[in-house]
Amino acid sequence: MTDPEPPAVSTAATQPVAARRGGPLKGRLRVPGDKSISLRSLIVGALAVGETRITGMLEGEDAISTAKAMRALGAGVERTGEHAWRVTGVGVSGFAVPRAPLDFGNSGTGCRLAMGAVAGCPITATFDGDPSLRSRPMRRILDPLEKMGARTLEIREGGRLPAVLKGATDPMPIAYEAPVPSAQLKSAVLLAGLAAPGTTTVIEKEATRDHTERMLRHFGARLQVETLAGNGRRITLEGQPELEAAPVVVPADPSSAAFPLVAALIVPGSEIILGGVMTNPLRSGLLATLKDMGAAIEFLETRNEGGEDVADLRVRAGPLRGVDVPPERAPTMIDEYPILAVAAAFAEGTTRMRGLKELRVKESDRLAATAALLSGNGVAVEIEGDDLIVHGKGRAAGGGHVATHMDHRIAMAALVMGLASDQPVTVDDAGFIATSFPGFVELMRSLGAELG
Ligand code: S3P
Repeated sequence: MTDPEPPAVSTAATQPVAARRGGPLKGRLRVPGDKSISLRSLIVGALAVGETRITGMLEGEDAISTAKAMRALGAGVERTGEHAWRVTGVGVSGFAVPRAPLDFGNSGTGCRLAMGAVAGCPITATFDGDPSLRSRPMRRILDPLEKMGARTLEIREGGRLPAVLKGATDPMPIAYEAPVPSAQLKSAVLLAGLAAPGTTTVIEKEATRDHTERMLRHFGARLQVETLAGNGRRITLEGQPELEAAPVVVPADPSSAAFPLVAALIVPGSEIILGGVMTNPLRSGLLATLKDMGAAIEFLETRNEGGEDVADLRVRAGPLRGVDVPPERAPTMIDEYPILAVAAAFAEGTTRMRGLKELRVKESDRLAATAALLSGNGVAVEIEGDDLIVHGKGRAAGGGHVATHMDHRIAMAALVMGLASDQPVTVDDAGFIATSFPGFVELMRSLGAELG
């Protein structure tokens, strides 16, 4: 049985939304499935032989555009029920030539991982996306893929999309030391390495999220991970595995949970429970930082779901204090800085977040957008080099109109800020929230938040 896909949320017309202070937030909720795992299950499922059943899938715009791209490359991708999808894979190197450009919308992860998968196939494909994705650097991905035998036939100036990629007929394995800490880069090389004979190695100086490694193993690939001095890792993958379809259970996304979680910490009197949140240590930097700040977060019912540790989190409002966030924590909370900055504004004292260079190349320049979000709402904030410094006063004036720059996380962080500020906070466009957290506004309202 095939279910119709959830209707595409139109990002054509802008959708302003305001958040204002109200009563405490109360209740229990489960945020949507993890974006990283959902996208990987579509792409790895498309490269496997057989039927991959995915449950708990994120039905956000990023997943929908990635699903469409996998279909255009020849895989069968169907929705079989709510958050339940079936992918019929074509096997490693088995992608067909797509008839039209692959449009990844806002999804950097979908696009970059698919580039890796296509690089190992003897086909040519055009990659494109929305204006946000068109502004993001792609050279970091294409450089190693070219070393493996793929060729970039066309690309816009500055290494920006649209790009035409010709996959390798005889892909070569490489040993690659990643110049930036990026799970997308690591994953693209590993996915291309599936098609190469012999061993593909990726060395990362700082460990980044390991969902690709876990999923490839789950699908039967031979992959080893060694820890290196410092916080690094060496990942080795045996090429040309029999990649076999396997069921995927997607846990709740900790990067989405971060928004109601911080809202419950800063709206006085709140108490909520977030169900089944993934607690993978390479995604848990925000929880560690908030605990350092004195946040009341309890882990209830820790368990394993589909190969990942998850927990129900009980969160209670209470005072927070400013902290120093070390740069080595950044890869484990790279998407959480906008919402951490909001928590820091409501803390007492200064929070210094170090080593945020990578924020410059996210869905927006998130370092600048986060600073503007705070300063536009009366919070003292500075950018010093790659550091963001927030001078928390336990409150924020609010009253700002925040430019979201097609960035879902800036939109959600701004709305959470408005729930605890003296005056309402408005975002120019909440439409992009649907890329990662469809139903955000409704779910927050169900806790008692005043959004509209
Ligand atoms: C992701 C990796 C991160 C993160 C993104 C999702 C992934 O990007 O910001 O939202 O699923 O691999 P980088 O790899 O560029 O750090």
